Amino acid sequence: MTDSAVDFFLDNLMQLINCDNELIHFERDQIKALYEELEFLRIFLRDSEENRYEQEKVKNLVAQIRDVACEAEVIIDSLILNAVMQNIGHVIDPSLELCGVMEEINSIKTEVLGIYERKRYDISVLQVRNSFNAGSSRANTPIVDEESVIGFNDEAVKIIDRLTGEKKQLDVISIIGMAGLGKTTLARKVYNDPFIVYHFHIRGWTYVSQVYRKRDILLGIISSVIQLTDEIYKMSNEKLCEMMKKRLMGKRYLIVLDDIWDIGAWNDLRRSFPNDNNGSRIVFTSRHKDVALLATPNKLLHRPHFLTQDESWNLLQKKVFREGSCPSELMDIGKKIAKNCGGLPLAIVVVAGLLAKKEKTQDWWDQVAQSVCSYIVSDPEQYTDTLALSYNHLPHHLKACFLYFGAFPEDYKISVRKLISLWIAQGFIRQNEEKSLEEVAEDYLMDLIDR
Ligand SMILES: Nc1ncnc2c1ncn2[C@@H]1O[C@H](COP(=O)(O)OP(=O)(O)OP(=O)(O)O)[C@@H](O)[C@H]1O
Ligand SMILES: [Mg+2]
Repeated sequence: MTDSAVDFFLDNLMQLINCDNELIHFERDQIKALYEELEFLRIFLRDSEENRYEQEKVKNLVAQIRDVACEAEVIIDSLILNAVMQNIGHVIDPSLELCGVMEEINSIKTEVLGIYERKRYDISVLQVRNSFNAGSSRANTPIVDEESVIGFNDEAVKIIDRLTGEKKQLDVISIIGMAGLGKTTLARKVYNDPFIVYHFHIRGWTYVSQVYRKRDILLGIISSVIQLTDEIYKMSNEKLCEMMKKRLMGKRYLIVLDDIWDIGAWNDLRRSFPNDNNGSRIVFTSRHKDVALLATPNKLLHRPHFLTQDESWNLLQKKVFREGSCPSELMDIGKKIAKNCGGLPLAIVVVAGLLAKKEKTQDWWDQVAQSVCSYIVSDPEQYTDTLALSYNHLPHHLKACFLYFGAFPEDYKISVRKLISLWIAQGFIRQNEEKSLEEVAEDYLMDLIDR
């Protein structure tokens, strides 16, 4: 069963509950209970849409939920059949089987709840929806796998000191640097630091990006504090501003505005952030020093350092071999490739994606080393070439899928389900005898994520 099949089944269950047919009179409560439990699991399916591919545990739970929904559907079908058959004298009792399915659902639910309980490990597993965190300042926590961030400890300590320092007035702190230097990564590391989590009453994160809409920024921040409702969505920008101000008033808050391109975005918003002299902070990330200087009163800017050669090699190895280690014959050439990336994390990640997906031979790695030019950082053209190199080596069937991302605005959250439907509608997904189109599309997506 796919996610949409689970949705479809739940819609049918709801219709069954609401119908006034006497045939299911005795089972109605059982069906209601089944609906409620599956509804909970459906929310988990949605919450895990973006991250299920990265975590074995979540992936398994998704598979279990789909299976159990499938079992439940078969039982409900036989229950309806049974109700009709009773009228002509046959008696079968699927209610008992339904109890078995409920037990299975309960055990899955326990695991899902464990994840929602946000043990530290699990925070990185899910982009938890606000529906489960009304009022929680963690609701919009961006996903970060702390373990995989290399270096940046010194930078993080400095920023944390400033965020938690004695200054009572509202302070703005900027992280600047070229594309792919790790500004967002550093901001996330800080944002998720346990001390920061403890220090601020409210934390909110919102992406601004090149083409920003004030409304989206406001909704992004408000959703960190409360659950968004239809009523909120209908509010004018002025009302949203008022609401945000009211919610932040009197609380020590930390708001991250990620990827600001234009000082206008900040000027539009600044008056909506209350200054209660309680140590609240705003963090900016921007590629543009000028924008950051205009917004940061004390002109103190933070810039992530280019990774050292050791750090670069460390990151490359982690990305290519995950838990494994590099074979000795590839060590030297691997280090050379890492060095040629000029310490730019994005370049290392992109090249690692290329190496991870192809055969790990010295010949191929030699070719990559020659292509990845060591002038990446000083010459933006060369840097684009590295990205092109990765694109050129995509298998044909993935190229169109990859380019399709260009149809979405930058930093836009794309629903996996929507993306998959669009890819299918565009005819990008090849039919496969063993799998449904949705499953093949999921494989394509997984393949792209791995790169
Ligand atoms: N210190 C690091 N350790 C591990 N991976 C990193 C590190 N810094 C950056 N990366 C990885 O490099 C890529 C680019 O990083 P990030 O998105 O943080 O850059 P950025 O400076 O915010 O870029 P942009 O200006 O495009 O927003 C990401 O895939 C990120 O996971
Ligand atoms: Mg960024």
